[in-house]
Amino acid sequence: MYKIEDYRNSASILEDKLCGFKPEVLIILGSGLGDLGEYVASPTIIDYGAIPNMGISTALGHKGRFIAGQLGGKNVLIMQGRLHFYEGWTAEQIAYPIRLAKLIGIDKLIITNAAGGINTDFNCGDIMLIEDFIKLNLVNPLIGPNLDEFGPRFPDMSKVFDREYMQLFADVAETYDENVHRGIYYYCTGPQYESPAEIRAMRILGADAVGMSTVPECIAARHCGMRILGITLITNMAAGILDKPLDGDEVIAAGKAASERFCKYVIDFLGRMA
Ligand code: HPA
Repeated sequence: MYKIEDYRNSASILEDKLCGFKPEVLIILGSGLGDLGEYVASPTIIDYGAIPNMGISTALGHKGRFIAGQLGGKNVLIMQGRLHFYEGWTAEQIAYPIRLAKLIGIDKLIITNAAGGINTDFNCGDIMLIEDFIKLNLVNPLIGPNLDEFGPRFPDMSKVFDREYMQLFADVAETYDENVHRGIYYYCTGPQYESPAEIRAMRILGADAVGMSTVPECIAARHCGMRILGITLITNMAAGILDKPLDGDEVIAAGKAASERFCKYVIDFLGRMA
C-alpha cells in the first residue's frame, strides 16, 4: 500500500519535470485514441518510468508517457496510455497517477476508453458519454488504510460524472452534426472478452457498453473531488451481438478510424470548458 509520502515524493518529481508548467486538466487516452497527444504544441514528454511508483503501460496501443502542454487553450497533462488490471497492476497502482495529478493541483479529468456496445441501438464508431458505471464486486483502488488527505473513507459515488461537462461535450459534437449517446459503462477486468451470456446479463442490469478500464481511475478521482468527463468510443459490438469473434486489433483499428473526429471534439470541448 502506498503512503501519502510516496504520492508526495512522486508528485514533487513530476512537478520538477514540468519546470513550472501548471496543468489544470488530466486527460487519459484509451486504446487507439493516443493521437490527441500529437496536437499539443511544444510538448514536454515524461516517460512513466521517470516517476517513482508509476507503472508502465504494456497494453496494445498504449505508449506509457505523460505529455504536458497547451491544448484548446488549456494547460493539460495527457496520459498517452494507461494501466489495466489485466496487465497485473493493482487497482491502487492503476489509480496512482490520479492522485499525483491531484497533488500537483489538477482537479479536472477527461477519461476516455474503447468499449464494446451492449445497447443494440449503438453502432461501431459511436461515442457514448459515461453517465454512470457498474463495477459490483471487482477491484477497488480505495481498499487499504484511507488517505484522508485525498478524501473520506466512504466516498459518495452518486454523481461521478459531471452533468455540465456531459452537456457541453454533447453540444460540441452537435456542432459537427453528431448526436452522442449517454449510457452506463460496465467494468470487467479482462483480458478475455466477455461471453455472450455475460453480455445478456449486463444488458439486463442496465449496461450500455463494456470495457476493461476507467472505473478504478474514476473512483479515485471522485474520492479526491475531481470533476470528470468520461468518453467511450464503441469500437465493436459486444460478444454475441454480431455473429463474429472479437479481436483486439479490430478495437485498435476502430480507435484509429475515429481518432481525428474524437481529437477535434476534445480540443473544442477544452476551449469551452470552464
Ligand atoms: N469488451 C471489453 N472491453 C472492450 C471491448 C469489449 O467488447 N471492446 C473494447 N474494449
